[in-house]
Formats: sequence, structure tokens, C-alpha cells
Amino acid sequence: MSTPGRSFTDGQGRRIEYLRISVTDRCNFRCRYCLPTSGVTWLPREELLTYEEIAEVVRQVAPLGLRRIRITGGEPTIRPDLERLIALLRAESHVDDLSLSTNGVHLPRVAARYRAAGLDRVNMSADSLDPARAARIARRDVGFDPLRSLLAAEAAGLGPIKVNVVLLRGVNDDEIEEFARLTLAHDWHVRFIELMPVGDLSDLTERHIVPTPEVIGRISRLGALSPAAGPAGNGPARYMQLPRGRGTIGFITPMTHTYCASCNRVRLTADGRLRTCLFGTHEVDLRTPLRAGIPLVPMIHAALEDKPREHELLSLRTGGLRALSQVGG
Ligand code: 5AD
Ligand code: SF4
Repeated sequence: MSTPGRSFTDGQGRRIEYLRISVTDRCNFRCRYCLPTSGVTWLPREELLTYEEIAEVVRQVAPLGLRRIRITGGEPTIRPDLERLIALLRAESHVDDLSLSTNGVHLPRVAARYRAAGLDRVNMSADSLDPARAARIARRDVGFDPLRSLLAAEAAGLGPIKVNVVLLRGVNDDEIEEFARLTLAHDWHVRFIELMPVGDLSDLTERHIVPTPEVIGRISRLGALSPAAGPAGNGPARYMQLPRGRGTIGFITPMTHTYCASCNRVRLTADGRLRTCLFGTHEVDLRTPLRAGIPLVPMIHAALEDKPREHELLSLRTGGLRALSQVGG
């Protein structure tokens, strides 16, 4: 049982200290594993929480033990003046880790500004180190060079940097070793993510999944992998390290290894719903009470009591799952 007003613990006794905040469901990419090329409907702008409203939600839940916040999307950097939200959240003194998930395309332009506003670090998606191939996977050719964006984040001091790679058989699996080698030259955490059957996978099928044991086998040819602690605030990834590696290599295996038992996170959608599990339909509207001036903490406690023990993806009990871009990853 949670103790209303004092802790931030769910019905299974898991301590919730990590909030992911989606600031937009829109994206400037159409990654093959995430969004269809056309026919996506976006939230009308007036449905989005304003930055002040987001900060108010955080102000109300922060005293319950919230310590980490991640800003996500869609693609969060396309929302205007994001540094204003960063500064508002930074001013919330209980929060000691403020991070951002991004596809990286705007990082060369915004990294220094976000850092100055108080952002601690970034997670960046990079499915290829080759700009032309990255554009094909993202289905948007905007002259994006993933490595340049990672270096911009590093130069701005937005570390420890996590690099997220969704492996697709026959598309980018020939780059596994090259991605792994990034951890020799940089103190980055490169994480290989197994393709998940969510959203609109267009022409992708289970044949495109690259199983983690195979990835580990390929990287092991570069040197003996040893278990590593990984970055602080460990999430669902398991980390390993190459000999003399400055960074680590992580593996996120949502389909073969569930991490629900240690799940420490909840999500706030761009339109102000608290989602207690990424998958499934466990969510509660906070926007209506927020706009009516009704305190949020009691309904957050009720929602947490209902946070599921484990996600329903494996048994596919959830039916049409939304793309991760729509639920804030
Ligand atoms: N499978 C695995 N990861 C996904 N992401 C989005 N869609 C999928 C999917 N179908 C993850 C990727 C991406 C981040 C925004 O969400 O890691 O980098
Ligand atoms: Fe790609 Fe992320 Fe945009 Fe989805 S939300 S299309 S994964 S950049």
C-alpha cells in the first residue's frame, strides 16, 4: 500500500521516482519502426499541456520523492522554446536528474542552449552512423549526421550520453561492431534495442529482429565483454563493457527479458494523462483536474495503486498499441 501524501510507491511496492514527460506527440522523422509515412493524426495544440501546466504537475508530485525527469516526445526539440520548460523544471529543486530523449537532428543548434537552461544530459537515437542510411531509416532526408549531433551534445556537456540503436536485420545490423567501438573512444553508453511489435511497423516483420545473444556474440569478437555497472539510475538495460572501454554497451530486450519487477517510472502524455505503464491502457486524465484547480496527488496515488505488475505486450492482450511516439517512449 502506498502512503498518501508521503511516498510515491505503487500498488506492488515499487518506488516511483522517475517521470517521463512527453511535450508533443509530433515528430519530424518517420522512423520505419515507429510511424507510418502518412495518415498520422496529431493532437490539436490546445490539447497539449502548457509549460506552466507541466511545471505545476511536477511541483505537485516532486515532494513525493520524484528525483528524475526525462523530457520526451514525439520529438521534443520541435516544440518551440523548449529551453523555457527546461528552466522551469530545473527550478524544481527536488529533481536531481533532468534529461531529454531526442532523435538528435536539432542538437548541433540547441545543445548549448539546453545545457545553459539546466538540462543535465541526453539520450539520442542513432540507428546508423552513415547519414544516408540514417535518412532512409528515418524516411526524412534533412542532412542529419548522427555522429555530428552526438559530438555536439558531448561538447555542450550533456553527458553521460546514451545512444539508442534499434537493430533491424539486413538494414543496420552490419554496424553493430562500429557502434560498439564508439564506447572505446567516448564515455558513451551505446544501447542496442530489440525491435518491438508496436505502432506501425510498415514492412518490418519479426524477421527483422536481431536477437541480443547474436549481438553479444558479434561484439565479443572485438574483445571479451565483462558485466558493467552502466550509468546511474539504471533502467531496463543490462550493461557490458569492452576491454579498455570508456563507455558501456547496453542491451534492451523488451520481448525476451521483462524488467517490470523493477519498473520505477510513470509517464505524463503530451495531453496531460498519467500513464502508469508504457503498454496497455492504464492512464488517468490529470489535465481536467489541473485546469479546475483540483489537487492531483490523491488521483496519482489511486493511479499508482493500479500500475500493472507487468506489461501486456508479451501476451498481446492490449490490442492496437499506439506508436511509442504517441505515448512518450
Ligand atoms: N521497437 C523498438 N524501439 C522503438 N522505439 C520506437 N519504436 C520502437 C520499436 N517499434 C524506441 C527507439 C527510439 C525511441 C524513440 O523509441 O529506441 O530510438
Ligand atoms: Fe523516429 Fe523517435 Fe520520431 Fe518515432 S518519435 S519517428 S522513433 S524520431
